[in-house]
Amino acid sequence: MMLEGKRVLVTGGASGIGASVAQICAEAGARIAVLDLDEATASAAARQLCGAGHLGYACDVSIAASVDAGFAAVEQAFGGIDAVVNCAGIWRPSSDGPITRVTDETWDKIIAVNLTGTFYVCRAAVAAMERVGGGSIVTVASVVAVTGWEKLNAYSASKGGVLSFSRALAIECGSKNIRVNCICPGVIETPMTQKTLAYSKPTVLPIGRLGRPEDIARTAAFLCSDWSSFTTASTVMVDGGFSAA
Ligand SMILES: NC(=O)c1ccc[n+]([C@@H]2O[C@H](COP(=O)([O-])OP(=O)(O)OC[C@H]3O[C@@H](n4cnc5c(N)ncnc54)[C@H](O)[C@@H]3O)[C@@H](O)[C@H]2O)c1
Repeated sequence: MMLEGKRVLVTGGASGIGASVAQICAEAGARIAVLDLDEATASAAARQLCGAGHLGYACDVSIAASVDAGFAAVEQAFGGIDAVVNCAGIWRPSSDGPITRVTDETWDKIIAVNLTGTFYVCRAAVAAMERVGGGSIVTVASVVAVTGWEKLNAYSASKGGVLSFSRALAIECGSKNIRVNCICPGVIETPMTQKTLAYSKPTVLPIGRLGRPEDIARTAAFLCSDWSSFTTASTVMVDGGFSAA
């Protein structure tokens, strides 16, 4: 069991990629804490996807106090945290659009959740991992962090920030025995992309299909585990070849 004995915290774990990360890490032997906006949904996801003994907590990653409280609750329940996967995120295709139509509110909200939220979660993760002698942090950016995407201005900026931040943090944390790696998913079929994919699907996909949440989750589980013990500061493209094509 690749994650036997590991205590893994997943933000945004009630839906899509995060839900699959929670389920696959539990199958690999980890004890899971799902953090998401709504307590009942987070708890139900932990119970239904992972089983008894796995926990769910309310946490808004864009609020520092909420993140710190969530981490404190998980540390108290599990006695420590070994790995954290940052899956909480938002995408607003209707309001994030041509630059002249992007409102201050849209920009601020997307940066607050995707980028500042990742900062708050990673800050709490490093503090928790220092207390147990090390760990693994996985951040989730996007192919757009590398390729850019027309009319996806705020989202691309937030994910580019996540990618750069992850590399800087990895360099800082190497001597603390904390690894930090950033996954860049391609187009994955989840509730986030459902509506958009219904009328427009990318055609340049060398692998010939859209991504599934478990494609990302298996990579995240590997990065959480000791099987990736020499992997840090990496940008891991999990995009079916999209960025290369
Ligand atoms: N689906 C894709 O094609 C794709 C591609 C590249 C990157 N991503 C990234 O992967 C991550 C997961 O996306 P998904 O497709 O699974 O989306 P999703 O909408 O299915 O799940 C996102 C989860 O994050 C939670 N969340 C949103 N705001 C939050 C907040 N402030 N605090 C805590 N939780 C919050 C939601 O409640 C939800 O459970 C996101 O960061 C997204 O940007 C997704």
